[in-house]
Amino acid sequence: MSHIELNIKDAQSFLTQKPESLQEKVNHLHQVIHEKTGQGNDYLGWLNLPIDYDKSEYNRILISAERIRKNSQVLVVIGIGGSYLGAKAGLEFLNEPFKKNALEIVFAGHQMSGHYLSNLLDYLKDKDFSINVISKSGTTTEPAIAFRVLKKALEEKYGKEQAKTRIYATTDKKRGALYTVAKENGYEMFVIPDDVGGRFSVLTAVGLLPLKAAGIDTDQILKGAQDALKRFSNPDLKVNESYLYAVVRYLLYTSGKKIEMLVGYEPNLLYLNEWWKQLFGESEGKDHKGLFVASAGFSTDLHSLGQYIQEGERHLFETVVSVKNSKKDVLIPEEENDLDELNYLKGKPLSYVNAQALKGTMMAHKDGLVPNILLTIPQFDAYTFGYLVYFFEKACALSAYLIDVNPFNQPGVEAYKKNMFALLGKKGYENILK
Ligand code: PA5
Repeated sequence: MSHIELNIKDAQSFLTQKPESLQEKVNHLHQVIHEKTGQGNDYLGWLNLPIDYDKSEYNRILISAERIRKNSQVLVVIGIGGSYLGAKAGLEFLNEPFKKNALEIVFAGHQMSGHYLSNLLDYLKDKDFSINVISKSGTTTEPAIAFRVLKKALEEKYGKEQAKTRIYATTDKKRGALYTVAKENGYEMFVIPDDVGGRFSVLTAVGLLPLKAAGIDTDQILKGAQDALKRFSNPDLKVNESYLYAVVRYLLYTSGKKIEMLVGYEPNLLYLNEWWKQLFGESEGKDHKGLFVASAGFSTDLHSLGQYIQEGERHLFETVVSVKNSKKDVLIPEEENDLDELNYLKGKPLSYVNAQALKGTMMAHKDGLVPNILLTIPQFDAYTFGYLVYFFEKACALSAYLIDVNPFNQPGVEAYKKNMFALLGKKGYENILK
């Protein structure tokens, strides 16, 4: 049995072909993925990562996480794109809103706002903190600047030598500026394997160190991913929900839907949306092809984007994530005079009302010609997070191969960097402004 359910009945009538009709193509692409013969085949390390991960490095992750928890109130995680979104998605997915954790995780280097960074420096002034700086290339501008600034603050607080023991660097195993700085200073180092790209790296130290430091059961995350790996190693669309999802979104795309919205009804899903957008957007948007990936948090966004989804241009479909079981819930109380006219809901749990909102919205959007894919997960736990990560990663690889693009590169990201470097006067970029 699969840990998650994929229901495509509210998308089926929009498909011009049955998903099963693509089974042969899927079998072929499954081979391409597993035999590593497709585009970007140097970056398929994530495929067996839940089983083949470096066990001794994993032990060091556990030890470092414990040390951080003992000597810090705050862990500053510095990274951008795939070097921060996975950890952020996991933290939010497993978050108990308003609960103060023993160790607070904050992020930096995921933008270049001086306002943000200077406020973070103020916040850290009277707190014990450590830094986990993450960059596969080791040269990305946003995290590099944030690291330089935060390292200085750490050195001012603890002195140069002590500061070194509070810095954890996650980077390439032998090259890049961050690698050089980390080696030179003797920081505790973790490796992002050569064959694992940024957005596929959440199950390496990139995601696991911050998540473990936050007190999350990373063994369970890996267990969920391992079970997903086993389930999705069979290409049969009758049992492989990950491939079925990829095929249905491909068929919707080829029938004229250009936008996929990932939609959740729980605030804990908001950063899963962000991680998913990076995974699919950066993997598929190439050669003037690919679905535009967007997201929404309902019912909040039903009061903003809801109008457009119901009646705007008909170029989108939704993938709705539903969470079956709520760990905690609230019963709606009865009021004697019923002035707010809510007594018809008295005694009902809020999760029930939320579930009816989901059902009613899916019906309305389908009537409004917006296909819906429904993905049901049992609950917010570490196992489910690991399972979902692998589910989406495998779907993403197949999706990109279905539209014949390389899932694992991101050549388009360089364009803005060149202009920015030229404007900033970086050596070697002088000619670009001309
Ligand atoms: O998916 C990717 O490869 C990118 O989004 C990277 O994660 C992002 O650009 C950050 O790169 P780096 O880890 O090299 O700093």
